[in-house]
Amino acid sequence: MSNSSPRHFLTLLDLTPNELHWVIQRAIELKQIRNSKTLYEPFRNQVLAMIFQKSSTRTRVSFEAGMAQQGGHAIFLSPRDTHLGRGEPIADSARVISSMVDIVMIRTFAHAQVEEFAAHSKVPVINALTDDYHPCQLLADIQTFVEHRGSISGKTVTWIGDGNNMCHSFINAAKQFNFKLNVACPDGYLPNTQLMANNADRVHLVQDPKQAVIGSHLVVTDTWASMGQEDEKKARETAFEDYQVNPTLMDLAEPEALFMHCLPAYRGLEVSHDMLSDPRSVVYDEAENRLHAQKALMEFLLLQPQV
Ligand code: CP
Ligand code: NVA
Repeated sequence: MSNSSPRHFLTLLDLTPNELHWVIQRAIELKQIRNSKTLYEPFRNQVLAMIFQKSSTRTRVSFEAGMAQQGGHAIFLSPRDTHLGRGEPIADSARVISSMVDIVMIRTFAHAQVEEFAAHSKVPVINALTDDYHPCQLLADIQTFVEHRGSISGKTVTWIGDGNNMCHSFINAAKQFNFKLNVACPDGYLPNTQLMANNADRVHLVQDPKQAVIGSHLVVTDTWASMGQEDEKKARETAFEDYQVNPTLMDLAEPEALFMHCLPAYRGLEVSHDMLSDPRSVVYDEAENRLHAQKALMEFLLLQPQV
């Protein structure tokens, strides 16, 4: 069982840059361990509770498979089947669930909900996506960049599209991993003003996508309508029509530029039909790296290595 004040991973700011680098390097090692089919079970007798209040493919499979492959167990909890979905207070749920498991991951709507859960949890809590942040995806994305191009420190990244949870986590990543970030979002869909202001030294709003990608080593986008915004889909398609990432836009970036998307992707909208199969696209590596990066994150939180 964990100590009385567990470490949590609610945003990238919860780990130091040094600790984040440890997680990325460990993720690369754990990928090699898995690829060499070496049995490695540091999570024996450890249980992960996975609370999902939104849909998921990659996050659920990567956490559940990762726990099983490293000798532990995962429990999938949906609001349909638990009292969380019937109004039991988050604080009570946190006290109870965290008294029975070793680590918890939560995907939900308001970021304040994971903060409240964490405040009452006896064990580490991982944010597996809120309306505001998606830090686990960034671990996989940075791992992917490092594997393809080496350190991301000092590089230029461009975010195209909605100023959403992924964009916010890229802003935090710019600070923690020391890169420059151009943000190209239309009016009305800009990232959080305070977050932009806090990172004004390295994060710049460049609303024209063609201008924004010039000099970029990595171009990233995401769906125009996140989970919970389904009713806004049509209005957003109009607002974002000039913000599609396609090979022609990528040609304006650095010749070695990579393209990332956390998936699921909507071809013909935020990406052209041919973008995901373009040689510059590493989207499926990003998806696989969710598995390795989250194993490394859980090792960090559960086993508390000297970093
Ligand atoms: N990228 C990502 O988090 O995917 P899922 O919604 O499928 O988990
Ligand atoms: N911004 C998207 C990411 C999905 C992984 C959403 O929140 O739906």
